[in-house]
Amino acid sequence: METKKRVLSGMQASGRLHLGNLLGALTKWKELQDGYECFYFIADWHALSTCYEDTHEIKGNTFEIAVDWLSVGIDPEKSTIFIQSLVPEHAILHLLLSMITPIPWLERNPTYKEKQMEIKDRDLTTYGFLGYPVLQTADIVLYKANCVPVGIDQLPHLELTREIVRRFNYIYRRGVFVEPDAILSETPKLPGTDGRKMSKSYNNAIYLSDPPEEIEKKVRSMLTDPQRVRRTDPGDPEVCPVFALHKIYSPTPSHISEISDQCRRAKIGCVDCKMILVRNLIKEIRPIYERRCELRSNPEGIYEILIEGSKKARRIAIATLKEATEAMGMG
Ligand code: TRP
Ligand code: SF4
Repeated sequence: METKKRVLSGMQASGRLHLGNLLGALTKWKELQDGYECFYFIADWHALSTCYEDTHEIKGNTFEIAVDWLSVGIDPEKSTIFIQSLVPEHAILHLLLSMITPIPWLERNPTYKEKQMEIKDRDLTTYGFLGYPVLQTADIVLYKANCVPVGIDQLPHLELTREIVRRFNYIYRRGVFVEPDAILSETPKLPGTDGRKMSKSYNNAIYLSDPPEEIEKKVRSMLTDPQRVRRTDPGDPEVCPVFALHKIYSPTPSHISEISDQCRRAKIGCVDCKMILVRNLIKEIRPIYERRCELRSNPEGIYEILIEGSKKARRIAIATLKEATEAMGMG
């Protein structure tokens, strides 16, 4: 039997998932399940790097993310789904890798600087925050993953992983670890309700866990073309975030051009236009929402999947860690 290549990816346990996550990462993850041996994990320790002072949501988020994944079709029969902190080898390898990682490599990581600029209300001058990509490296190389599906923002982290792998294999003269390649998920621009990029930190996101009423409320409150003040004013759909969502969620291209045309000729009001979007969005999310409700009614079942997945992941992690410590002459 031809062995499948390995895919690994993770998400931080820092919030429930929204439509942007579905379009960006999850659809890709789901697709990969058929051609690769996939490992998907919830990075609860990574969530500590920014939320160490306020940890009360991490456990709940871990559960909700697992429900989100399962409800969109990440399938435990095909993929290994696990929790980082249930595989303590991630922490051990993180320690070992930290010994060979030069600090300047971490300091020049662009996300390190950007996040520090962005998040002003917390002290991010910690050792753990600087070492975030080292832990991420441990996550990846423990499974000798060949491919890591990520968004473009994660490319610097992946490059660091490759550098750390090369350094380890060079110093200890054994090719224990595999240099992973990125599988870049196209990130279509998905605006949130205020027109900025959909993101939980902007408070503008539509969640997979939002009930239909909530979706309606959020869409009704969406920003439109600000120049279109009266119903009789023609609008410019290209500047309207509602239209950006129509482009993604309309059933056919002709529906999209019809809305564009009607908006430009003031033939449709924004409220009606939004209600068309609400119907299309609900059609898309309702099955996920219903599946979520069903899954949540059996929390033991969810935990069982996570515990089983973590056991399976752990067996591989233990074997790789053994190889690594042996290469270091400490096995
Ligand atoms: N840093 C990733 C993010 O914020 C999450 C992550 C942690 C990850 N470990 C990983 C992604 C390993 C891919 C592989 O999205
Ligand atoms: Fe936007 Fe639709 Fe209003 Fe045009 S009609 S401005 S596309 S909400």
